[in-house]
Amino acid sequence: MNRLDGKVALISGAARGIGAETARKMAQAGASVVVADVLEERAKETAKEITASGAKAIASTLDVTSEASWTAVVDTATKQFGKLDILVNNAGIFLGKDFMEATMEEWRRLVDINMTGVWLGTKLCAPALAESGAKSKHGSAIVNLASVAGLVGSQLDPLYSMTKGGVTLFTKSTALLFGRKGWKIRCNSIHPGVIQTDMGAQTFATRARITGTNDVDDARSTALKQHPIGRLGVPEDIALGILYLASDDSGFMTGSGMVVDGGLTAQ
Ligand SMILES: NC(=O)c1ccc[n+]([C@@H]2O[C@H](COP(=O)([O-])OP(=O)(O)OC[C@H]3O[C@@H](n4cnc5c(N)ncnc54)[C@H](O)[C@@H]3O)[C@@H](O)[C@H]2O)c1
Repeated sequence: MNRLDGKVALISGAARGIGAETARKMAQAGASVVVADVLEERAKETAKEITASGAKAIASTLDVTSEASWTAVVDTATKQFGKLDILVNNAGIFLGKDFMEATMEEWRRLVDINMTGVWLGTKLCAPALAESGAKSKHGSAIVNLASVAGLVGSQLDPLYSMTKGGVTLFTKSTALLFGRKGWKIRCNSIHPGVIQTDMGAQTFATRARITGTNDVDDARSTALKQHPIGRLGVPEDIALGILYLASDDSGFMTGSGMVVDGGLTAQ
C-alpha cells in the first residue's frame, strides 16, 4: 500500500513541519523528493537527513509567491530526476489576528502565500505533471494543504479561513479543469485539525492572546478538548494521508477533500 517507487515528488514548504514529514514518508515509500522552501538551510538539513537514510532527496529554494521561483524549481526537479509525478502544495502561513486588526499588508502576504502560491504551483507544475501522468495508469497527483478552517469557520483567524476555503474549492475546480482537458492529473485536498508544528504553536499563542489569558498551556488544552479523539495531531498523521492521496491507491479520487482532524469537524 501507498508505495511511490520510481515517482518524483515536489513538496513546497518542506523544510519543517508537515511538509518535512511528508518528504520523509514519500522518500521511505520509494519516491525521489524535492524539499522546496524559502528556509534554505533548514531545507538542506531535511534533504540531508533523508539521503543519510539511503533515500533520494534534494533541497531547492522556493518562494511560492514567485513565478520565476516555481519555474526554477520545476527545472531543477526535472533535470535532477527526469520528470515530475507529484506536487504537494504545502507551504502556508497563519495570521493569528481577526480581520478588525489585520492590515492590508498582512492580508496581501497571507493571500500571496496561501492562495497565489497554490495557483502558481499548480499552473507551473501542470505541464510536467501532465506529461508523466499520460504514461501512468492512475495519472500524476496534486495534493493541496487546506485545513478544517477551509470547511468550517475559524474563531481564531477568519482571514486564514478565507484562504483555506479558497484552496478547498480551487482543488475541486482544478480536478474538473484537468478532467475537461483530458490531462491525467488527480487533484485532492487534505484538511488537518490542529497539528503540533510551529504553526500549531502559533494557534495556541493566538488563542491565549484573544481570550486575554496569555496562558498558552491552557489554550493548548482547550484546543485538545476540541478533538474528540483525545489528542492533538502530529505531522505523521497528515503525511500518511498525503501519501495515500499521492499514491496510485487513491487512483479513483479527484476533486475530493480528505479530513484528518481527530473528529474536530464531526461535532
Ligand atoms: N499545523 C496545523 O495545525 C495545520 C492545520 C491545518 C492546516 N495546516 C496547513 O498545513 C501546511 C503546513 O503547515 P505546518 O503546520 O507544517 O506549518 P509550518 O509553519 O511548520 O511550516 C510551513 C512551511 O512553509 C514554509 N513557507 C512559508 N512561506 C513560504 C513561501 N513563501 N515559499 C515557500 N515556503 C514557504 C515555511 O518556511 C515552513 O517551512 C500549511 O499550509 C498549513 O496552513 C496546518
